[in-house]
Amino acid sequence: MTAPTTKHTLLVVAHPRRDSLTAQVADHLHGLLKEAGATVDVLDLYTEEFDPRLTPADEPDWEDREKRYSPEVHAHMERIAAADEILLVFPVWWYAPPAVLKGWIDRVWNYGFAYGRSRPRLAGKRMRWIGLAGGPRRAFEESGLAAAMDLQLRTGISEFCGIEDASVLLVHDTELSGVPHELRPARVRQVLAASEEALHS
Ligand SMILES: Cc1cc2nc3c(=O)[nH]c(=O)nc-3n(C[C@H](O)[C@H](O)[C@H](O)COP(=O)(O)O)c2cc1C
Repeated sequence: MTAPTTKHTLLVVAHPRRDSLTAQVADHLHGLLKEAGATVDVLDLYTEEFDPRLTPADEPDWEDREKRYSPEVHAHMERIAAADEILLVFPVWWYAPPAVLKGWIDRVWNYGFAYGRSRPRLAGKRMRWIGLAGGPRRAFEESGLAAAMDLQLRTGISEFCGIEDASVLLVHDTELSGVPHELRPARVRQVLAASEEALHS
């Protein structure tokens, strides 16, 4: 009998505040993953002061897919390569991930590593985009913005990099400023419960 293998998750968090709902969702998922026996590498892009600006050192050279990028980028690539699963937890800003997360994709999900090979290196991983949106689900669906985000993140990034097991989970109504204080704990619990879908779907 072969021993069960331990799942290793890279949990990427992109929010400037540790008391944000986004951070609470990340902590909640982290706890559940550990309870389930996974090992978890938490990559908090703000705490680690990740610089999202692409410099020439990390610009793809379309004639050299073996290019050595900056040491920082190669260290991030190793963290991705080590993971069976990549969970990205972020607030929805302008119907997109925050710039720090977009910059992490720009710099680290680079030519020769994440794409540009006939046998994609990241194929076989599981990827979940978990976006906290202030607005309601209905508004996202009726406007087409839910579909636009799905197309951009799942198709445009995950599938482009050979990751077929990818999806976008939007958790709605996460802006608590208009919610009476006494109702906020229940709303937070709803948000945390809704985020668990990312572990099971
Ligand atoms: C710069 C900025 C842009 C935002 N853009 C959107 C948006 O496009 N759609 C939306 O539903 N909510 C938007 N929001 C609201 C956030 O999604 C919401 O405040 C957040 O999820 C609340 O959770 P937090 O405590 O983790 O920040 C935006 C908030 C900020 C600060």
